[in-house]
This record gives sequence, structure tokens and C-alpha cells, in this order.
Amino acid sequence: MHRTATMKDVARKAGVSTATVSHVLNGTRPVGSVLRDRVRQAVAELGYRPNFIARSLRRKGSGAVGVILIDDTNPFFSESTRGVKDAALENGYSVLVCNSEGDPDRENEFLELLAEKQVEGVILFNVRDSNLREAAGRRLAVPVVLVDRDGASRGMDSVVVDHYAGGMDAMEHLLSLGHGRIACIAGPSNSTPALLRLRAYANALRRAGIPYDKSLVYRGDFRSESGYAAIPFLFSDGKLPTALFAFNDLMAFGAITALAERGLRIPEDVSVVGYDDILLSSFFNPPLTTVAQPKKEMGRAAFGLLLDRINDESLPARSLRMNARLVVRKSTASPGASKGGDGSGCMR
Ligand code: RIB
Repeated sequence: MHRTATMKDVARKAGVSTATVSHVLNGTRPVGSVLRDRVRQAVAELGYRPNFIARSLRRKGSGAVGVILIDDTNPFFSESTRGVKDAALENGYSVLVCNSEGDPDRENEFLELLAEKQVEGVILFNVRDSNLREAAGRRLAVPVVLVDRDGASRGMDSVVVDHYAGGMDAMEHLLSLGHGRIACIAGPSNSTPALLRLRAYANALRRAGIPYDKSLVYRGDFRSESGYAAIPFLFSDGKLPTALFAFNDLMAFGAITALAERGLRIPEDVSVVGYDDILLSSFFNPPLTTVAQPKKEMGRAAFGLLLDRINDESLPARSLRMNARLVVRKSTASPGASKGGDGSGCMR
């Protein structure tokens, strides 16, 4: 008779320990890409499915967790939340997603609502109000995991990406192509990831001996509209940057549309780098050079941390650090070049 594959079978087939299989499936610890692929392939070949029912029976709580994010129209959040949902499903949990629009009052309302629904834990994506994060732990009295905000100093679990290094990669790419007048569309001043990218922008210029010019910096809000609005400001009065670093892909899209309306070609007249690598970025015209965040992995890892905390509240707080990586596509080239990158989408 056909036997259902177990986690042990997956481990044996992939040639790894069951702990490694569990880390890959739950994202609780970074696992190198070679081992990760071997585990995923073994899972697929054996048709391994975690035993949801057994897990739900073992569980005492509601079987639901909450996610609060700040903009559900931004694919960065839906793609990251997808990782949470996948990991939750594998563990027999359902996920309630709330969109706060970054409004602290709404965030508080959602926290109340989630408490009423008796969720077993909450994942907070990029929630900007620091009081809220602390309040979240107290008011809900359930585990909280932060994503894209370091919880270490508050003794909270978190998943963070090295945005300073990501910003540096973007800038070094533009500088190595020969750009000297690089504008930037920054993010909100109350967003740590945005501030780290801005620090990288300024430091990369300084290292290259290029003075920081504040007329080349526009404060956006991570929405396409603000990327669009940035262009008249950054490209006015004969100022003509040859390159633009937008702190997320949506703002890069808005900027490219406004540049095209002015008759400027990407990348021949202006090179553009985004940040996030949302799915649409490789289908945009031109395909966007961008700094990729490991969105699904971040979501999976956040759920893994949450589950560990649900199961053992005495665990020491953990902060998982992940890396961003530059993906070169066709929106960047040397100043004055007639063609874009090779379009291979190669990672650096
Ligand atoms: O696109 C949303 C942005 O907000 C992302 O870059 C993420 O890191 C957050 O700070």
C-alpha cells in the first residue's frame, strides 16, 4: 500500500537532518540555497504534505494568527504575506490580514479586533509607530513578531533585511556605470528601512567624492504617485540627473512614467534602480533593475518565529537577518549609452 511520506523521508532523500527540513519549511533559520533546493525538490518528489489535521488537533488555541500591514495595494506586502500564508497553511493555521494604511488609530482598532478574534499571535509588517509595537505585546498578550523593524532592543522577535547593504549595492551599481549625478526618491522619514537606504545613498556618494546635493533628494511615501510627483522636482531648472535611485519599485514605476511623458528614455537618458523586486518589475517596460528583498522567505521566517514563540514563550527573543541583492535588468546603463543592460536579470 502507498505510504504517506514523512519529514524523515524528506530528510533522507535530501541527505539532510530533519531539523534542516523543518527550518526550510518553516523558515526558522536561514538555510543555504543548495540545501534549500534539495529539500524543496525532495518535498515535491515525495509529495510530502505536513499533517495539518494532526497539528490542529494537538493545538489548543484558535488556530488563527493576525497580520497587520500598511498598504495592501503594494505587492511588496502581498508577496511577503504570501510567505506567511504558505507557512501557516502547512502548520494548520489560518491568517487574518488587516490593512492599516499606516494610520495608528486603525492599527489600534485592528489590534483590538484581532484580540477579540483570539488570534494566537500577530505579525506586524513595517508598522511605523513605535509605541504601537510595544503596545501590541502588552495589549494583546500574545506573541508578536516584527517584520522589517528590528525588535532586538525591545526583546521582541523580528525579521530584518540589511537595507544599508542593499542601498549600497544599488549605488555602487550606478557609480560603476559612470553616473555622477544621481537623484534619489527616498521613503518616509519615520521608516527605518528608508533611512538606512538614504544613509547608504549619502555614504556611497561621499566615498565616490561626489558632494551630497539635497536638491537631488525627494521625499516620497512608497507609492507610485509620489514617484511620479518627484520628477518635476528632481528634473526642474535644467537639473538633469543621469540616474535615479527610487527606494521602492512602485515609486520607480511612477518616476519612469513621468520621465517618459517628458520624452526622456530609460536607460539612454536616465538610468533607474528600484528596491523590492516585486513580481511586476521584471514585466515592466523596461524591465527594472532593482534590489530584491527575499519577500516570501521573510514572511515564512516571521511565521516560523511566531510559531516557536506560541509553543514556547520562554524562548529568548530572536532577530533573523536577511540580505537583499541587486538584480540587474534593462533600466540601467552607462550615461549616454544607447542600450540597456543585457536583460539577463543576473543577480549580484
Ligand atoms: O515597498 C514598501 C517598502 O516599505 C519596502 O521597501 C519595505 O522594505 C518597506 O520599508
